[in-house]
Amino acid sequence: MSSEPADAEHPDADATTVRPDRNLALELVRVTEAAALAAARLIGRGDKEAADQAAVDAMRYVLDGVSMDGIVVIGEGEKDEAPMLYNGERIGDGHPPLVDIAVDPLEGTRLTALGMPSAITVIALAQRGAMFDPGPCVYMEKLAGGPEIADLLDLERPLPETLRLIAQRRGVDIRDVMVVMLDRPRHQEQMNAVREAGARVRLILDGDVSAALLAVSDNSRVDVLWGIGGTPEGVISAAAVKCTGGQLVGRLWPRDADERERAVAAGYDLERVLTADELVRGEDIFFSATGVTDGDVLNGVRYSGGDHVTTDSISMRARSGTVRRITARHDRVKLRGRGRGLYG
Ligand code: FBP
Repeated sequence: MSSEPADAEHPDADATTVRPDRNLALELVRVTEAAALAAARLIGRGDKEAADQAAVDAMRYVLDGVSMDGIVVIGEGEKDEAPMLYNGERIGDGHPPLVDIAVDPLEGTRLTALGMPSAITVIALAQRGAMFDPGPCVYMEKLAGGPEIADLLDLERPLPETLRLIAQRRGVDIRDVMVVMLDRPRHQEQMNAVREAGARVRLILDGDVSAALLAVSDNSRVDVLWGIGGTPEGVISAAAVKCTGGQLVGRLWPRDADERERAVAAGYDLERVLTADELVRGEDIFFSATGVTDGDVLNGVRYSGGDHVTTDSISMRARSGTVRRITARHDRVKLRGRGRGLYG
């Protein structure tokens, strides 16, 4: 065991305590549950900003109680536009372990506001310095799938060809291969190519973290996620994929010449295909997500009458590969008494 100080800011701690060794994923469930309970009050209310704010407030409140020295590396934006969970914010009580934090307090703000499926709350933690910094690039092209087809996922090869290889590997006809993608005009050409090859497309309004979870889950009805979506969501999805197995490959996708120039000036290689291992390095990775509205992977927050409300979460750790499904029953009266009115 090394007794060498592992960090200048924590001279008393050695490498073994600075590294996140306890299963933080179990503590993170409380964080995503709280955000889901708060956001669920606004399902179907037509106000996506309010739903997002409720999730942010609750997530921030519960995160304070987690013993760690965390820095938000993927958050709600820069400090001047995001009062909480902004990029660079320090979270936790300042004691080791030292971690990077990536949050999407409400993935699917529009889905929540419209009462549509698959909105989730999500957080990922990794050892300090392990998460890819997307810099100025808002979007990334992504391709994700489960362990049985992980080696076939390649953004350099035309997607229809990859789908043929997937069909071959699974021993099915290409007509049985399903690609999930965000419903966006920028996807039209690829959507046509997938359909011309004979495969199917499942369109989603929002939520490609949830779609990545679906693509890598056992017995999933979709084979792969493909599409250009948020880079932060790409890093968060990579954290999940590192825990479940499978692969996510991504390539930065600048929106215009200006973004391209800024990315190149900052030293980003825009041709490079990044693997999940490059998006979140190492094995000290923890992930938790809780359903807000019902989806394929997680059930939404359920008010079953009386004083109880139920949440459904997934909690994972890359080092052990343990995937836990956690159903929790919360007492509404007691909830209301806590959290400064965050839960309605
Ligand atoms: P929100 O959670 O912020 O509503 O975003 C959802 C989302 O659909 C992501 O899942 C996806 O990566 C991104 O937005 C796509 O961005 P855009 O809507 O600009 O195409």
